[in-house]
Amino acid sequence: MTGMIEAAQAVLRANDKGGYTVPTARLYPFQWNWDSALVALGWVTFDPERAWRELERLLEGQWDDGMVPHIVFHVRSDDYFPGPDVWGTRHQPATSGISQPPVLATVLRQLWEETGDDNRAATLFPRVLAWHRWWAAARDPEGGGLVAILHPWESGMDNSPAWDAPLARVPATPTTPIRRRDTGHVDAAMRPHDEEYRRYIHLVDLFRGVGWQASAMWRCAPLKVADVAVNAILYRAEQDLLVLAQRFGEAAERAEIAERLERQRNALDRLWNGEAGLYQSLDLLGGERIPVCTSGGLLPLFARHPGPTRAARMAREIERWGQHVRYLVPSLCPSDPRFDPKRYWRGPVWAIINRMIAQGLEHYGEAALAARIREQTAELMWQSGFSEYYDPTDGGACGGSNFSWTAAMALCWAAR
Ligand code: DGY
Repeated sequence: MTGMIEAAQAVLRANDKGGYTVPTARLYPFQWNWDSALVALGWVTFDPERAWRELERLLEGQWDDGMVPHIVFHVRSDDYFPGPDVWGTRHQPATSGISQPPVLATVLRQLWEETGDDNRAATLFPRVLAWHRWWAAARDPEGGGLVAILHPWESGMDNSPAWDAPLARVPATPTTPIRRRDTGHVDAAMRPHDEEYRRYIHLVDLFRGVGWQASAMWRCAPLKVADVAVNAILYRAEQDLLVLAQRFGEAAERAEIAERLERQRNALDRLWNGEAGLYQSLDLLGGERIPVCTSGGLLPLFARHPGPTRAARMAREIERWGQHVRYLVPSLCPSDPRFDPKRYWRGPVWAIINRMIAQGLEHYGEAALAARIREQTAELMWQSGFSEYYDPTDGGACGGSNFSWTAAMALCWAAR
């Protein structure tokens, strides 16, 4: 695996723009939230100092209310739409106005444990705590224990079929003209449709119109979904934040985190679908569970939420998916009629999700299935390079190439 490790390190170095790593050249020319946090797990394997810088630079974008935005626009670039002018937020450096899956606390804990850098961890701990408080206050104002995404981009799984029905309620009538750049960089068949983009940008226009004010956004949002992946990742992140709080926090902060964890544990239960054998998102405006089986619905394994019986049921479900595709874990159940093996989050395999699922499976004693997922992920990387995502039927490269978080997963997991 030495060759793969060197190649993965070279991808991170090439995408390093000075303390932050772009996901890939041209397609994503700025710093993305969960990309960066996960990429730090790659950096820490060969340059711990650089790993810490990644998190510090991400937090340069943090808002006064605690929100960590999904993009920090450290520089100008015409390669990406929508750029800072469309977002129209008031932060310096310029940022987007929405957030992304909160993997940061989990990464912070791992960096701290691996480097033993108490000073850095102590400085970043309150910043991450502030972000978790933002999720609770801004996205679960009634305190039910599930946080909502208000834009599909906040899920990180932009065009998942799980958002089809809630997104259909969002008007496809943006005021901002759509000038897509992504389809100039990668095959349009691997990206969301124009129709989806019109709705994505309508939401940006709407929220910009209320000044990106959290309570006003909550009131006007035509899309409000308790995404199973975001909620599972947050539940895991709160557990890791609690460990950090034991070293760096006050008693009141530990009590506050423990209280949120309790609420989240009970609320996540509502997302379990026993017939489907996994968890599913909840449409908070329609009031119904969204009956779509995605890889996001397996992330409660990573969050250590299910009991052993449920976890075993989920493992068997993953194996069942594996009878239909050559490479695990497709982002959509492959027998779903909407399964599209090349289109972004409607079928392809993602290395970051594979690692989370495999770590969860290991926790539950499903070592053989976890090893199969890890080996298949490494095989995809050998065969198709560090692609953004992969076709689960033939292992073909999809999306951007020389992709940072895929290379990072080779370094911290698949090639070890
Ligand atoms: C994109 O532009 O494709 C991103 O997923 C939005 O964050």
